[in-house]
Parts: sequence; C-alpha cells; structure tokens
Amino acid sequence: METTTSLAAVAALEAQHVLQTYTRQPVVFVRGDGTALFDGEGRRYLDFVSGIGVVALGHGHPGLAGVVADQARTLIQTSNLYYHPLQGQVAARLAALSGLPRAFFSNSGAEAVEATLKFARRYWFSQGITSRTRFVALDHAFSGRTLGALSVTATRSYREPFEPLIPGVTFVAPGDVAALEAAVDDQTAAIIVEPIQGEGGVRPLSPAYAAAIERVCEATGALLIADEVQCGLGRTGHPFYFQALGLTPDLVSVGKALGSGVPVGAALVSGAVAAQIAPGDHGSTYGGNLLAMRAADYVLTTLVDGGLMTHVQHVGRVFETALTRLAAAHPIVAEVRGAGVMRGLELTVDAASVVDRARERGLLVNRTAGRVVRLLPPLTVSEAEIAEAVAVLDGVLADRAAEDTK
Ligand SMILES: Cc1ncc(COP(=O)(O)O)c(C=O)c1O
Repeated sequence: METTTSLAAVAALEAQHVLQTYTRQPVVFVRGDGTALFDGEGRRYLDFVSGIGVVALGHGHPGLAGVVADQARTLIQTSNLYYHPLQGQVAARLAALSGLPRAFFSNSGAEAVEATLKFARRYWFSQGITSRTRFVALDHAFSGRTLGALSVTATRSYREPFEPLIPGVTFVAPGDVAALEAAVDDQTAAIIVEPIQGEGGVRPLSPAYAAAIERVCEATGALLIADEVQCGLGRTGHPFYFQALGLTPDLVSVGKALGSGVPVGAALVSGAVAAQIAPGDHGSTYGGNLLAMRAADYVLTTLVDGGLMTHVQHVGRVFETALTRLAAAHPIVAEVRGAGVMRGLELTVDAASVVDRARERGLLVNRTAGRVVRLLPPLTVSEAEIAEAVAVLDGVLADRAAEDTK
C-alpha cells in the first residue's frame, strides 16, 4: 500500500480502521530533526511535547539512529531464556544513577508501574505477611492505562468504565499529611507517588510533604514507590526527582526518556525487595531486548558522560526565568510550576485554545488537567529554541486574553 501524507487521506483511513481511542490534532508528521518536527507539506514545528516527554535526545539523533541501526542488523531479540551482554550493562547504569541496585525491564511506563506494584505485594507475601496488599496513591495521579496502573491512577473517567479495578487503593490529597497518616496502616503494601505529577498538571510534591511520606513509611513499614516515568532520567536536571525531594523509594518506575523513542521501561528495585523476588515471579517476552537495551545504554551514556544533564540544569534555569517573565506579563497565567525542562503553566481558562493557536503558529505544546499548558521539550533543547517558544506563547496568550475582553 502506498503511503500518503495528506491529512484528509490519513484521517479517513484511520477513521475506518484504527480503533478510535485517541482524539488527534489535525496534523501529519513525517520527519523530525532535533527539536523540530515537519509535516507532510514541509512545514516546521517547534516540538515542546517531544512524544510526551519521550524523545530526550531530540528527533533524528544521528548517534542514536546509528546504534539502533547497527543493533537491528546484529541482533534484536533473543528472549529472556538466554543471556545477552546489554541488560546487565544498562541495569548497572540505572543502579549508579538511582542507588537502587537491580532493574526489571519492561516495554512501557505502565508495565514498569505494574511491575513495581507486583514486586511490592510479593515483598510482603514472601515473608508470609499476606494482609499487606493495599496501596495508597495521590489525587491527580497518573500511572498508566493497564488495569494495575489504572488502579493507582486517580482520573475518574479513565477508571469508571473498567471497574472493578484492583481492590484496596486509597487516594489522598497531595500535601494533606493527616489524610496520609490516616490512610497508611499495617495493611498497606506501598505508597505510590509521582515526585512531579505530570498528567495531573505538572505538580511537584513539596519537600515538607515528601518528609511526611518518609516518616509515614518509616512508622508503618509501608514500601514507597516513586513513579518517575515522566519526571525521571534527567528531565528536571536531576537523575530522578525523588532525589531532589529527599525521598528514599524502595521501587522506582521509569520509561519514556529511557529509550528516547525506542519503547522501553524499567522497575528499579532496592536490595531488600529484590531479596524477596524469585525466578518466575514476573516476566516479559520483549522486556530488555537487545534493541531497547542498546538505545537505553546510548541514552544513559549521553545523559551522564555526554553532559546532557548538565545542559538541562542550564537551560532549565533559562526556561524558568523566561516563563516567570511570561507569567508576570499575562494575568491569564495563574502559576508556573515544574523543574528543568518539565514545566506547566496553569491558566485561569481552559488550555485547549492556547494549544491550538500555538500549533497554528508552529509551536507544539500539550494541554493537561484542563487548564495547564505542559511544556516537555527534548532535553537537548537550546536557549534559542526556548526563546522562540516563549515568544510564540507570548503572542498566543495575548490573543487569548484579548478574546475575553471583546
Ligand atoms: C508518571 C507516569 N507513569 C506512567 C505512565 C504510563 O506510561 P506509558 O504510557 O508508557 O505506559 C505515564 C505516561 O504518561 C506517566 O506519566
């Protein structure tokens, strides 16, 4: 079948044959280069979505493309029945970054979360404590769409059509220490938190609340799971944002940036939890395959040895200053939140029209939690590209505000 790039033809074919679970924006992308995406007509867009926080190294990265092509020619998949040289190498790199000594590899963020939930329950079961099966999660949390990850995701509309989900999950408001203390008890397997809630509107946990989480875990013995699928792996200028908050999780889920577009995720596991996991407890046909591991190894090398995380620290400060100025100039921006190159502008109005206008002017941004414009450029984003994006937002916000005064 010949590939067409015309919006009308692509949309018509999808409407007929692709299960309609997504609401797409009217554009067909065919190529990328760094922070730029190009549509079928060759129009350039500045990409401050980056595959929803995935394309850490930017689009069309020659080094990543080179190792992926090389690995595809050499060996892609052997299964977890056998050894290959790369899984241990990537796990060792993740251990050095996180302080958690072991990794289980998955193919997505949701699967990484699933693994952390299973390992938390297994930790207690292995010790003969069968009553500790419950989880405590936070309001606004998003951890994925599979049944287990959905069970610790707060959004009512995502959950309701698929209930009953896994039982025994209690949601508490982030910041409400009394509610956390009341919810966590000797039946709690684990507390799960995103150190910066992504889909929930780019909401970092406060250091004071993080300290309360640590205290509650210490007092009750509950394990702590940090879901770093979106905020982890350098996006905030820290290897993981749990480190910035002073959290000491027993389990950490990662995904998105790990393969910079090649699907891969991982559950990182403490020594104490790992000691309670046995062969056969969990598995994945593709998990940790050579192609994914080669990409992850390249991304982690670039992040640390290549100085990419240091770059994020620098451009993150530039981004913060620019967005703070933008907010000061536009009363419809209620708050700027986030860290590094993970930023959210909470508006006083729905963010949908801002997203559409920005796209029409060649800037891709994402709406989340209704009123939040989420900005997740590649980690490689330059100062000039940040200035360009903020200039577009400046015009768009002015137009949006003018509309209200008409
Ligand atoms: C914090 C968090 N956890 C888990 C997921 C699920 O990841 P995936 O879509 O790769 O399954 C996401 C996706 O946005 C996420 O932001």
